[in-house]
Amino acid sequence: MKVVTTIKEMQAEMLVQKKQGKSIGFVPTMGFLHEGHLTLINRARQENDIVVLSIFVNPLQFGPKEDFSTYPRDFERDRALAESEDVDFLFFPSVAEMYPHPSSVKVVVQDRTDVLCGKSRPGHFDGVATVITKLFNIVMPTRAYFGIKDAQQVAVIEGLVTDFNFPVQLIAVDIVRENDGLAKSSRNVNLFPDERQQATILYKSLLAAKDAITQGERNSFTLIHLIKEMITSESDGEIDYVEIFSYPELITMEELNGRIIIALAVKFTKVRLIDNLIIDIEE
Ligand code: PAF
Repeated sequence: MKVVTTIKEMQAEMLVQKKQGKSIGFVPTMGFLHEGHLTLINRARQENDIVVLSIFVNPLQFGPKEDFSTYPRDFERDRALAESEDVDFLFFPSVAEMYPHPSSVKVVVQDRTDVLCGKSRPGHFDGVATVITKLFNIVMPTRAYFGIKDAQQVAVIEGLVTDFNFPVQLIAVDIVRENDGLAKSSRNVNLFPDERQQATILYKSLLAAKDAITQGERNSFTLIHLIKEMITSESDGEIDYVEIFSYPELITMEELNGRIIIALAVKFTKVRLIDNLIIDIEE
């Protein structure tokens, strides 16, 4: 595995690979790798000749009150993990390398942002779209891999790729779950033991909504009510949101049809958990 820290060298390396006709699978991350990232790397490894992992904690996507400086970082651990997962290139630029001067251009995301988690993080997705634009121009990937757990991020990047005509295939990788259905997250360790038990209701409530859809229910308010009832009766978690939208457009629908997302966020004592289910409804 080669660690590359400059944009110039990364682009030169990628051009060599492309000239040889190699496909490039790209996994962009902010480091502190966990099982979810390893799943993405694995999938990229299976589907491409070359795997590129980037580690860059992107200041543009952190709000003024968010934790940019305290965001967890452990490069040596990440490098060892990437090496053991057979990554070919690890792109690890500094902030000065990525943003050498105040940007004269930034990407502004026009829709899909004022719902779900984006509602409380103004400007966050502009920062994500800007860094992804730069990373795509640097790595020139054939395929790029993102976890669907952050479905809003995938929807925004889908819009970016379509609108800006990036020649990249986006691969949204399924949520990895514990045996009892809880979506895996490094934050789950912050649940108290009773909360860890209760948290299984999140996925169960999504499945109950899916069952109701299979039985013919099409009203989003009825489904949201069903999910909220289940979560409040089975856990002490405080519901932040339960929402249903078309996917990936993230438009509210009263009567459901086509591809939809049911997404929720629930706060426990020390941690806020998110989960979602994407369902194709056929008429
Ligand atoms: O999901 C993340 O880790 C980040 O938002 C991403 C996609 C690497 C962009 O900085």
